[in-house]
Amino acid sequence: MSVESDSWWESAVLYQVYLRSFADGNNDGSGDIAGLRDRLPYIRSLGVKAIWVSPWYPSPMCDGGYDVADYQNVDPLFGNLQDAAALFHDAHALGLRVLVDIVPNHTSSQHPWFLKAINEPEGGPAREMYYFRDGKGPDGTEPPNNWSSAFGGPAWTRTVHADGSAGQWYLHLFAPEQPDLNWNCPQVRAEFEAILRFWSDLGADGFRLDAVPAIGKDSGLPDASIQFNDVFSPSDWPETPLWDGEIVHEVVRLWRAVARSYQPERVLLGEVIVNSPSSLARYLRGDELHSAFAFELARAPWSAKAFRTCVDDVLGGPWTGSARPTWVLSSHDEVRPVTRLASSAQGSEPLTEQDLALGTARARAAVLLMLALPGSACMYQGEELGLWQVDDLPPDILEDPIVAQTGDALKGRDGCRVPLPWAGEKEPFGFSKSTPPWLPQPSAWADLTVEHQERSQGSTLQLVREAIALRSQLPELACGQMRWLTSKPDVVGFDRGTDFVCLVNFDASPVAIPDGYTALLSSGPLTRRGQLPVNTTAWLKRQAPVPEPGRQPGVAVPL
Ligand code: GLC
Repeated sequence: MSVESDSWWESAVLYQVYLRSFADGNNDGSGDIAGLRDRLPYIRSLGVKAIWVSPWYPSPMCDGGYDVADYQNVDPLFGNLQDAAALFHDAHALGLRVLVDIVPNHTSSQHPWFLKAINEPEGGPAREMYYFRDGKGPDGTEPPNNWSSAFGGPAWTRTVHADGSAGQWYLHLFAPEQPDLNWNCPQVRAEFEAILRFWSDLGADGFRLDAVPAIGKDSGLPDASIQFNDVFSPSDWPETPLWDGEIVHEVVRLWRAVARSYQPERVLLGEVIVNSPSSLARYLRGDELHSAFAFELARAPWSAKAFRTCVDDVLGGPWTGSARPTWVLSSHDEVRPVTRLASSAQGSEPLTEQDLALGTARARAAVLLMLALPGSACMYQGEELGLWQVDDLPPDILEDPIVAQTGDALKGRDGCRVPLPWAGEKEPFGFSKSTPPWLPQPSAWADLTVEHQERSQGSTLQLVREAIALRSQLPELACGQMRWLTSKPDVVGFDRGTDFVCLVNFDASPVAIPDGYTALLSSGPLTRRGQLPVNTTAWLKRQAPVPEPGRQPGVAVPL
């Protein structure tokens, strides 16, 4: 099967592979490219069009590989460059595209560029690639400004000379092991053009671009006027000198020019967390990104009002021309929806059976809602299995830098990165052959393995497969307009085109399916009276002709 060259990214379903936790091909307890290649037919069977693979570069793994020590190679933990080339080849043969994760804001502190810079005298040319500055106060003991790191603590670390004396400070908006690159430096720009070309030439169909607005720093590095909390949240910030400044657009345009120089054009999907739809819109101008993740649903509480507001905020905002949002409900950074949407469990206590059932019902409903929205959607590995956040990992094995940088105040993101359960009754559940996975899997995942769910009627895996298949058969879901329907406040209803309706019941009791509509698919069984239960979504198709002459189809389906 060949990969068509349409604007596939405008309405595609993508699948995020967190490589270390996907499938282990060499039985060392960590996922790798060989394991991913073996499981490509599984990904294909979901009906998705593309995969985004989390960073696979050589890395000290201080931040799950988002600390890159060589942008043109693969860490031996994951394989080698031949494996990457073979992955592109195999994926294309199955009609799947592959997006490579590019981390442009920072390198690893072990990257040769940084090692050269730090070993060079102050003011030397290699330091130009990063932000080295003298400290403030007597003897430069205070950081150059008041910026804070995304993971907690100051955004500056002081260097130490070979003789043990203190030197300049360097900037890191994330962990100290992730020094920020200076995109005013022509060499940084040239290096990244070469990196994008390197992977495009090897077969990448596009790129997921990490933490894009972080590049937009005011080069004068002035103090910020805001008070930082422990872990920063740019979506809540007013304008700040460390994020989303004009220079980022200049840089994104350079990347787009590289993407455009390939046939088919390489696709740019950005992680762009900014404080307003109008700021986001600027990243989606015709010569910038093709799409950006919309994280709103991944953070919304379970309420009709919150979900409506998210959709309005996103769709009412920047989506002009061919740019489309890429919706997400989860990722390697977010609490898994089953846990997040369960009533009482918010990450501090393990889920009770009851929480689990509720969270699972809501997560299934949320997936159907997301897959009915205009734009693309990206599903994070394990979302199709209804996996939950593993909240009881032993504290001494947690790897996320957030844990240490917040002095253990936060649990970090390891709980959503636990290796996938594929088959069998006990760990490693087919993830590796026999070696225990790098993070332990809950024994209760025996009921959530791919193997188990393939056999279980109505499993989350079957629901997701059916939904993606239907989505690709219904042209209105790719391009139909979306309109809200009048409904009870706790029921969300919208149409796509004239014949398709998506209905989500956030209410306390079942609601009737509107006359003239039948359910194509629902996230849980309808009641015996054919009603839509609470915490359930249904996709409806209009069967009957429009009852009253002149009625605008779809505008006022009585609910
Ligand atoms: C992005 C990644 C996250 C990483 C951070 C720093 O937000 O998704 O996992 O920690 O960037 O690179």
